[in-house]
Parts: sequence; C-alpha cells; structure tokens
Amino acid sequence: MLKINSLEQYQSEYKRSVENPELFWEGIAESFEWKKKWDKVLDWNFDEPNVKWFDGGQLNITENCLDRHLDSIGDKVAFHWVPNDVSEKGRKISYRELHAEVCKFSNVLTRNGIKKGDRVCLYMPMVPELVIAVLACARVGAIHSVVFAGFSAQSLSDRINDCNCNLVITADGAFRGAKTIDLKSIVDESLLTCTSVKKVIVLERTKTEASMLAGRDVWWHDEMLNTSPNHQAETMNSEDSLFILYTSGSTGKPKGVVHSTAGYMIYAEYSFRNVFQYQADDIFWCTADIGWITGHSYIIYGPLLAGATSIMFEGVPTYPDAGRFWDIVDKYQVNLFYTAPTAIRALQAKGLEYIKPYKLDTLKVLGTVGEPINEEAWHWYNDEIGKGKCPIVDTWWQTETGGILISPLAGITPLKPTYATLPLPGIQPCLVDSEGNEILGNDVSGNLCVKYPWPSMIRTTYGDHERCRQVYFSTYKGKYFTGDGCKRDEDGYYRITGRVDDVINVSGHRIGTAEVEDAINTTDKVIESAVVGFPHPIKGQGIFAFVISSSSDNENYIEEIRAQVTKVIGPIAKPDRILLVDGLPKTRSGKIMRRILRKIASGEFSKMGDTSTLLDPAVVEHICDVYSQEK
Ligand code: WTA
Repeated sequence: MLKINSLEQYQSEYKRSVENPELFWEGIAESFEWKKKWDKVLDWNFDEPNVKWFDGGQLNITENCLDRHLDSIGDKVAFHWVPNDVSEKGRKISYRELHAEVCKFSNVLTRNGIKKGDRVCLYMPMVPELVIAVLACARVGAIHSVVFAGFSAQSLSDRINDCNCNLVITADGAFRGAKTIDLKSIVDESLLTCTSVKKVIVLERTKTEASMLAGRDVWWHDEMLNTSPNHQAETMNSEDSLFILYTSGSTGKPKGVVHSTAGYMIYAEYSFRNVFQYQADDIFWCTADIGWITGHSYIIYGPLLAGATSIMFEGVPTYPDAGRFWDIVDKYQVNLFYTAPTAIRALQAKGLEYIKPYKLDTLKVLGTVGEPINEEAWHWYNDEIGKGKCPIVDTWWQTETGGILISPLAGITPLKPTYATLPLPGIQPCLVDSEGNEILGNDVSGNLCVKYPWPSMIRTTYGDHERCRQVYFSTYKGKYFTGDGCKRDEDGYYRITGRVDDVINVSGHRIGTAEVEDAINTTDKVIESAVVGFPHPIKGQGIFAFVISSSSDNENYIEEIRAQVTKVIGPIAKPDRILLVDGLPKTRSGKIMRRILRKIASGEFSKMGDTSTLLDPAVVEHICDVYSQEK
C-alpha cells in the first residue's frame, strides 16, 4: 500500500513510476488479496488496442472490498445512508452487515439463473440495495451495467439491448427531492423492446403501485427471505470484465465502456487513498450518483477497498432547502467531501444564509469533479465551505480512465485555483498538436492524451472493439486521446479547458450533440436540427438547439421538442434554448459549421471568423436576427 506523504515523496514516486512502471504497479498490487498471483504485470499495445494488467492473476474484487476487512474492521460502518426525506430515519451498515447482504443477494442472483459473464442491468435509486446489488454481481462474476435512474425508457432499453442483459434490478420508485419517480413503470415500458431480459428483481422503496409480471418480476424482499448469508465468491481472472458503463461520445449512440477487474480495483483504491489523503477514521462523502463513474469508483469501490466509512445520500442538494449538504456534513461529521462544480455554483447562487447555521468544522479536504471549475466557484468553495483551511482537490478524469488521473494530493501538492495540477504517479499525460506531435516544455496548450497504460483504463467498448480503437486510439497514434483540451502552465501544472469534440458537459454530465439532434429529429415536423453547447452560469454548459421545422405554432412547438427529448433521452438532455430558424450554416459539402453556431449560442456575434466557405453566408445573419429577437 503506497501512501504518499510529502511533495518530495510525490516527486520521487512519480519518477520511479515512469522509470519502471511495472515495478511501481506491482508493489501496489501486492497489498491486495489474490487467489492466485499474476504471471505478467503488463502486456500492451495501443494499436489494437490490447491492454492486460496482472494477467494470469485470480481474485474476486468483493473479497477485497468486504471479506478481508471482516476480522479487522467488521463492525466499522461502511455506509451511513441518508434518505431523501429529512423525517425518514437513516441507516448504518457495517462491513459485516454489508458482507452478509451481498452474500445473500449473490445467492439470489444465482438462484435466478445468473452466471459468470452474464450482464445485469441496475436501474435504481440511491439506496444501500444498489451497492449490495452491484457487489453481488461482482461476487458471482456477472458484469454490472448501472444505468442512471434519470434516463428515459428508451435510453434504458438501448443500454439493455446493447449488452443483452439477462436480468434487470430496479425499484418500485425513487424519491428525488420533492418528486417521486416511478422506476418500475419506466422499466416495464423499456422491456417491451428487450427480449434478452428473463427476470426483473424489484426493490420496494416508495411503495408506489407496481405491476408485477408473473414469471418475470419478483420482489427483492421475497427473494432475500430464507436465503443463506454464506457465499463462496467466484474466481475471476484479472482481465475479466467487471462492469460496463455507458457514456456519450461525439457520434452515434452511447458506448459501453468496459472495465476489467484487477486493474480497476488497484487504481480505485490507490487513487482514493492518495488524492484525498484518506486516514483510517475519516468520514468520506462523495455526492455523485452511482449511475455515473464517480459513484462507481468513489462511493463503492475505492472507499470499500480502503475500509473507509462513507456517506450515501439519496436526495438532492436543494431539498428540503439549499442547506441540505451542510446539514449532513455537520450531522455525520464529514471529513472529506467530494462534489461537482455545478452543485457548488447552484448552492452559491442560493446565498450564504443556507450555510450560516452550520459549523462545517470537521471538514479537512474538499474535492471537485466532472467539469472545469470556474475561479469564482473555486473561491466560494474554499472560503465559505472550507473556511480557507481545506485543500481543494480538483480531480480530472473520465468514465474511460476509471479513476482520477490528474489531481492535487490533498495538503501535499501546492494548489492553483482551477488547475487539476499534476498527474498521479503512474500516469503519463502529454499534450499534442493538431498533427499529433507531442508538445514538449511548459506554458503550452494542446489536446490531452495519455501515452502509457494505467491499470484502470478502458479495455474495450462493449460488443464493438473497433469503435474503441477509432474513438480513443486512432486520432493520435500510440496514444490514448481524452477528447479534452488542456493547458500546461509555466510550472508544468495542468488545467483542463473542456471538450474539443462534439460532447457537451451539462452539469458534469456528458451529452453528445448528435444524440440530442437525433432525439429532436424524431419530433413531428422537424426538418433538421443542430445542437451546440453554450456557457451556462450554473450548469457549466447548457444545450442550445437550432431547429428547422414546418410547424407554424412556434410557442407550443418548442415545448413539444423539449418533451420529445425528455422522452427519448431523459430530462438531463432537455435543451435550455431552442431557436426555430429557416436555415443552418453549411459548407458546400453540406457539413454544418458548428463553430459558427457556438459563437451565436454564446451571443458572440462580432467574432464569427471566416464565413466565405458557407453555401449561403446570409443564413448567419438570419440566425443572429432570430436570436436577437428572441432574447
Ligand atoms: C470533464 C467524470 C475539468 C472532462 C469523472 C472529461 C473535467 C469529462 C474534470 C469526463 C475536471 C472531468 N476539470 N474537466 N476536474 N473532471 N472533467 O466521463 O471534459 O462523466 O473528459 O467522468 O468531464 O466525464 P465523465
């Protein structure tokens, strides 16, 4: 177990990790529980790509998360679960209890026909049973695919069909703020087009009326009755797939990012321990939803592997009011707090009166993730929440990277507001120019790549390895391309400037412009659409849609488009602004010039650049006119 304690040690470990990566990672892998040690630390090429870490090794990740802790910290709290509603009682679950529940549910999965390698889809609220279900999948060797419970029935069925899930685990409903969402009816609708699903296990949470299809649907509590809490974990190979998580790219449907077992495990623990400088009695709280990678790595796997106590919160930051986070921090004496810039900005906008009643004096480290943090939000977080004494770790990473790659180590790396600062030891980032040449030296900008494998990197995109190669490994030969633009300043510090592809980062969630366009185009009377991101004060980026339609009822029509996107993708992809226009700026070859639309969407009419290659330059003026009239 490597725990870096000083800047000097960071520097020497970094150097060691570059000089001999295999030795470096082998040392870290030694501290885990293996059923059989590996034959080879690393085998790789970025051309196919083919990356194997700790090949020949055998293990089960849940034995590392749970079983190995039982003798030493079995009675320690693994999760304090905080329900959405303040009047409902919370739950605390020890490592021993979590282990027993996971074993029981593993037996339930087996009884319901789930075998090693099967895909299981989880569409659930933020309740402990979600963690139990995820870990039970891992324990029996099934590949979990968690789908964020804010996605629509259609998005859910796309994800179920893409990987042919055999089983869906869901709940009757979910509480989110003042709303109750009927998850089961969404699942029912999605399964109308999914033939692979044989069974649905339904957790009772909201007591909403749920229709149960005989022979297919069973209740969680019925299944758990009289089920043994003993279970022998399946033996998995290091490179066996642990999970699939769908994420948006610049083209086509979301892709299933596949992570492997051993490499992911090692990196989740190593990064958690070092970035947050976790100490044995710390209370950690990551506010993400488990439907995203942040929840996978820093609510479930990282903290459990480290034997930590975490908070799991069912609700939203503004319910019942904008003091909810701080209420929980005080009540549970949270030490390490990890959230998204969008939440910080939303709470900042509500005013200081929501912070005043709280002490926040247990906080030691603050973290952010998901999008670039602006200077103003950084200072507010630092001054008002951290009271100027908590280092802020601005952690840069992606669904594909599995864990945090560039980040300060709390209290060790000197900070600069809005900078993700330096790579963790073992990570070799580089910047490249448009020709693919590596840009050396400091005070430079380029596209961010990683030139050497790390254990928790993406292995493939489910069912379509060629897509993985194309998207991540073909733009710059021999390098993993992140899709992000980046600056490296005079001190060698990294600052991520945002996506350079057609992906919009809305409240820290990745949404492909093509996906939103496809959804809009399914609205009646839409002829064509183009979607771009624009700066949004709370969400970071908002979604701006330019739509050509044959409808004459503009006012209701805009709502119709919004409703259609919600239906096809989910509320997170609903455009913030829709402009009905007569034409779109296209080149002579028919390609939409998004650069121009991005300028218009951000209201920058003066710096439109060269428009001479457009088929019809007058269209730009027309769109600007419509924009100005609507404003
Ligand atoms: C962005 C989330 C700036 C980035 C873990 C990346 C960030 C995308 C940061 C991945 C950060 C994430 N600073 N930008 N600290 N963290 N991003 O897959 O554009 O949901 O490519 O993973 O979020 O989003 P994803």
